[in-house]
Order: sequence, then C-alpha cells, then structure tokens
Amino acid sequence: MFHDLNALHAGLGGRRIVDLFASDPDRVAGFSVQLGEMLLDYSKTQVDAEVRAALVALCDRAGLAARRDAMFSGAPINETEGRAVLHTALRNLDGGPVWVDGADVMPGVRATLDRMRAFAGAVRSGRIAGAGGGFTDVVNIGIGGSDLGPAMAVLALAPYHDGPRCHFVSNVDGAHIADTLRGLDPARTLVIVASKTFTTIETMTNARTARDWMVAGGGDPARQFAAVSTAEDRTAAFGIPAGHVFGFADWVGGRYSMWGPIGLSLMLAVGPEDFDAFLRGGQAMDRHFRTAPWTQNMPVMLALVGIWHHQICGYPSRAVLPYDQRLARLPAYFQQLEMESNGKSVAMDGTPLAQAAGPIVWGEPGTNGQHAFYQLIHQGKQVVPCEFMLAARGHEPELAHHHRLLVANCLAQSEALMRGRPLEAARRIVSGKGFEGAELERQARHRVFEGNRPSTTLIYPKLTPGVLGAIIALYEHRVFVEGVIMGINSFDQWGVELGKELATSLGPIVDGTESAAAKDGSTAALVAYVLRSR
Ligand code: F6P
Repeated sequence: MFHDLNALHAGLGGRRIVDLFASDPDRVAGFSVQLGEMLLDYSKTQVDAEVRAALVALCDRAGLAARRDAMFSGAPINETEGRAVLHTALRNLDGGPVWVDGADVMPGVRATLDRMRAFAGAVRSGRIAGAGGGFTDVVNIGIGGSDLGPAMAVLALAPYHDGPRCHFVSNVDGAHIADTLRGLDPARTLVIVASKTFTTIETMTNARTARDWMVAGGGDPARQFAAVSTAEDRTAAFGIPAGHVFGFADWVGGRYSMWGPIGLSLMLAVGPEDFDAFLRGGQAMDRHFRTAPWTQNMPVMLALVGIWHHQICGYPSRAVLPYDQRLARLPAYFQQLEMESNGKSVAMDGTPLAQAAGPIVWGEPGTNGQHAFYQLIHQGKQVVPCEFMLAARGHEPELAHHHRLLVANCLAQSEALMRGRPLEAARRIVSGKGFEGAELERQARHRVFEGNRPSTTLIYPKLTPGVLGAIIALYEHRVFVEGVIMGINSFDQWGVELGKELATSLGPIVDGTESAAAKDGSTAALVAYVLRSR
C-alpha cells in the first residue's frame, strides 16, 4: 500500500529539514493549511512536494471522499456495530437534514439541544435549585468519552466560566469521589450521571455513592440528579425524573459525544451561547473537511503527515504539546480519541493488518514538558514527531510578558528540534568552558543535538469556544482519515471488552466469596496478598 512512499523515504538519505528551508525560504507558504485565522504549519517536516503528492494519492486510493460523504450522510460506516457515525449532526446547527434509516435526525437533535439550553439557563439562574438553594456545584460522573471531553473543555474555557463550579468524577477508586465531594454542599450540588450505556460499572458505582452522600446530607436526588444517556429505561430505573434526562442516539460514539448532552456540564459552566460557539467551531471544521481540496484540507493534511511519520518513517508515537495551560487535559482527550479509534490490528474485513494502524499518543502542556521529558525528544534515540499548539494571544493582557515567554519557548522548541546542534558547535561551546583534549571531546558529545526532528504547529489567535470546537473537530476528522487510509473501523472499541469481562469474574474472588484456584498463579497470588492485607 505504501510502496511509493517507502521508496521516497528510502531515497531521502541524510536530507535535513533545514536544507528544505535553505532551498525554499518561503516553504511555510506551500506546506501549511489555513482555515479562517487558524494555521497548521507542517513545513518543519520532511514532507516535500513529491512526498505530499504520494500521500495525497492515498486518499483517492482509499476512497476517502466516498467514505467521508458516507459518514456525513448517516450510512452505517461503523460496520462491526451496524451503526451510523453522526456526531457531526450534533453540531449541524444550521445545516440541512441528516437521514438515518429514512428519518431526519435533526429535529430530535435540535429539540434536545433546546431542552439542554432551557435546563442550563434555569440552573444557572437559580430557577432550578437543590433542596438547600441554587446550585453552587455540578459533579459530572462519567468515564472515558463521558468524562474526558467535558472535563477537558471546562478547563480549556475557564475564562468563559460563569456558571456553577464543575467537578468530574471518573475513577472507580473511592478516593476520586471522596476527594471530590468533600467540602461540597449535598443540598446545593447537581449530580449529572453521564453514561451512554448507563451500565458502566465505574459510573454506576460512583452514582450510587453520590446518591447516598446526597441523601445523608439533606439533599434531594429527585431534584438534584440529572442523566445523560442513550438508555432512558435505565435512567428511569435509577430514579431520575424524565425532565432531567437528556438522551442521544447510538450513532454518537462515546469519544465523539461531547457535542451533545454529554457536554451538559460544559454548557452549565459557560452558558448556552458559548456552548453554541463551540458547536459552530466544530461545524466550520466539518464544512472545511467536506469541501476543501486534499492539499488545502487541514484534517486531511494533519492525517497524512501522521501517516508519513508513523507508517512510513516508523516513528511509534507522537506527542501533543499544547503551549496553552488550559489545554492540559487535551493530550488525555486525544489519547482516547486516537488510540481507542485507531488502536486496531485487523482491517474492516477482519484480515490482519501488516503494520500498526495508529501511533501511541501522549503529551503535556508546554513549558512543563520541557523540564521533564523533552530531554528524550531532543537527544533520545527515538524520534518523536511533536504536534505543538499555540495561541497568539492569551486571556490575561495584564500578563502579556508571560505569554511572550510562552510563545518564545514554543517556537524555540520546534526550531531546536529541527536545527539541532552539530558536534563542531558543541566542541566550540565546551572549549569556551575550558575543556581540552579527550575531555573536551567527551563533554562535546553529550551536548550534540542530532536535530532533523519533525514537528507541526497549530497556531490560532486565542483559545475561544469556537477555536476549541474547531481543534476538536480537526482531530476527530484526522483520526477518521487515518483510519480510512489504513482500512480499519475507527468507531468500535472491542479491545476494552476482555478486561471488563475479567473484572466482573474477579469481583467475587476479590470479595473472598469465590476461590481464585482457576486463575493463573500470578493472579491468585495477588488476590491472596489483598485478602491477607484486609
Ligand atoms: O470502555 C470503553 C467505553 O465504552 C468508552 O468507549 C466510553 O467512552 C466509556 O467506556 C464510557 O462508556 P459509557 O458512556 O457507556 O459509560
């Protein structure tokens, strides 16, 4: 599949990215994509016109346009679950109808959004209140896609936060809910149970614990619980009144769900208008993805650069490095989005893949990472393509000097990764420090930076709700494009099932009511350790 690209890669020899700039100083103009004021610069990579042409050819070979149109039109492209993939309908604010099984889903999407707006408005104004008065705090209980999106976005949009405080509980570890609820008023806290299936053991366990806490503290779960789910029969069985239940359809995947009711905590935090702006940002990216030619298509080019680095250059991971503290949870969000979507070993038809479909994704906000793992990024033997993100302006004009430092650091990192520092320059530095002879040579070698390490930079004017929506939709479509080119289903997640099944079977063993004899020796010994320590 990658024959041409592998040949081009082999032919690069020792070519350095800096040489590409030497021969074409304006290279950034040709190797970047603009959407509105957002710019994706991929000029600091080895992608040249020939490589790009070969990458773009993959799109047509994989039938990307047809696959993309099938997704937007509601075809059941999640073939192993027989489902449409229509998170884009949730942000189709002023678009046309979207048909699933002969019915337009948009009236239902709009009605739910209107109900969310009314509920959020009433909570924020105090018209809907708890047993002890207006809500001061919201606790979203969910995990995976029912947690990471709103948790990431509430932090990202802190400057717009004018509603009740929001907290997120995901882990079944009792420490998480205990630490979160401590100090909250059980009579003025709204609990949102967010679960697509309403069966997830972590979420249901935390929800019951929160309910007990509320009742014990004089709160009223009938007024103070809301639910977000596709399973309205289960939300009713849990005792949540229908007026506090916000449903969505199974054509919204968990990790793609923050655009709809799973985003309720975000809407409560920033208000319906800013939530709408977030949706509009996503919708603008959808329009761009559907219409822009491949080379001018931001999600497509981001995906192709990813394919180049992972499949062709063989780099096993990529780092997401937002120079934007409020995007601190974005790498975790992208880990689920990318690794749950494309961490697959078989093609859509069930045949084994010849190579890994998607990379390991990790990261931390800059500049913190610089003082931790950047050592490896600069001097380790592994090459880690870096995806920098940067706002031209911060939200704190009075702290503009902080922002200038932030910008300088971000730009310095991508420059350092590309340029490196050759041995000769390192020798000059240590010679200036008084080293000589063999010691000079030894010291110099420790100060060499190989350079020629690729990075992309996504730059935007300021982290607004619309920009955040565009960034999330950009990465969603990037994952989709990579999945289509690799021929996999990016929308199922069978790989999470086995662990869940075994956890269920281990429950009574860990309780001590069943024997661990049928388990392997390691598992049995670990269970015995736990039982002895109780
Ligand atoms: O176990 C994985 C997963 O199914 C994710 O895909 C999902 O986002 C998460 O669990 C939570 O699921 P639910 O929203 O149904 O509780």
